[in-house]
Amino acid sequence: MKSLFLSSLLLSLTLANVVPKAEQKVDYSGFKALRVKGKGKDFESQVEKLAAHVLTCGKGEYVDLVVSPDQVDAVTALATDSTVLSNDVGAMLASEGEFSAYAVPSETWFTTYHSYNDHLQFLRDLQAGYTSNSAIITAGTSVQGRTLTGIQIWGSGGRGSKPAILIHGTVHAREWITTMTTEYFAWQLLTKYNSDAAIKAVVDKFDFYIMPIVNPDGFVYTQTTDRLWRKNRQTVSSSSCVGRDINRNWPYKWEVTGGASTSPCSETYKGLAPSDAPENRGLVSQVQSLKNSRGIRLYLDIHSYGQYILWPYGYNCNLRAENDAAHRTIASAAATAIRGVFGTAYTIGPSCSTLYATTGSSTDYTDVTGNATYSYTYELRDKGTNGFVLPASQIQPTVRETWAGLLSMLQRV
Ligand SMILES: *[C@@H]1O[C@H](CO)[C@@H](O)[C@H](O)[C@H]1NC(C)=O
Ligand SMILES: [Zn+2]
Repeated sequence: MKSLFLSSLLLSLTLANVVPKAEQKVDYSGFKALRVKGKGKDFESQVEKLAAHVLTCGKGEYVDLVVSPDQVDAVTALATDSTVLSNDVGAMLASEGEFSAYAVPSETWFTTYHSYNDHLQFLRDLQAGYTSNSAIITAGTSVQGRTLTGIQIWGSGGRGSKPAILIHGTVHAREWITTMTTEYFAWQLLTKYNSDAAIKAVVDKFDFYIMPIVNPDGFVYTQTTDRLWRKNRQTVSSSSCVGRDINRNWPYKWEVTGGASTSPCSETYKGLAPSDAPENRGLVSQVQSLKNSRGIRLYLDIHSYGQYILWPYGYNCNLRAENDAAHRTIASAAATAIRGVFGTAYTIGPSCSTLYATTGSSTDYTDVTGNATYSYTYELRDKGTNGFVLPASQIQPTVRETWAGLLSMLQRV
């Protein structure tokens, strides 16, 4: 970042804690998406300084970046290997399509992306259709005062009587496909309960808590200002950079080094203290309350992109969960179920050793502190061709195949 964003950063300083209406929307015309490899420990920090956004957020085999036209040569000069993922990110954004006018929940909802307010309306309308099986739930408040909102779904045992299935979406603001996917889960569970025996069986067995957008400020910011924004919109007095990574802010192994950044300008800034992001505090209290009441059978944190199903641990690549083998069996069955729908191939494994190290992450917290029996991170489509900017035409295929993965998990946990 970042001279490019200097004007918007300065503006956001003066507008801290208000919805940044006055900021200009970032125009990505001519920006390239690059996948680069390099040598030396400084390679990543050097290319990060030149990039408008880092798309892959950990020390993986390669780094995906969005780069302004005038920095492309500087980035490729540092790299030992580079591939162009997109020649024009601005043109890619157009493939996401227009938001459609709001209509009461039907399957056509899952053919376009939507505004934040329409997502809230979707939840309200869905719940209103199934008042004896569902309720709107909340989990704390964002930096800018938005309520983290979700839906609880239960079956024949009644509200809150069964082990919890807890699902979070859109913790990273730019991962729009995760909003659609978590909403599809809720839509399937409620609208098919009476007509599909397999769905009725899992709804009667568990108590579902589905939160499609746990980073509402960031999500709104991706729609008003910067489509590729990841973090929340929290300021820090030591820097003009904005945002904490809510998924590096959980109060478990937050202090371990190597899996998050201490630089406020980084995409993976961990914050000044564990849980110092208000969104994180809301999610922590939600996990604690479920742990202390019905217990968490399965926790899912839905992200994009990369096509992975990952489980603990993120903070240590050598450590394995006590039920690592069971995690693997269930993930493997889910990956098979997903592949069975449209052939999409997922990689599975413990997160640190399979992808990269993460500290203060949700699934380490839910596994250890939250006492969840199973905790997984999904990284949805694709593998970098479109990245976070998945075309509207891929929404329905993605939500359908991921649903097959979820149903498979629900039948095995
Ligand atoms: C953790 O969950 C198990 C059920 O999976 C339960 O038997 C146990 O009491 C729980 N432990 C704590 C500390 O909550
Ligand atoms: Zn993510």
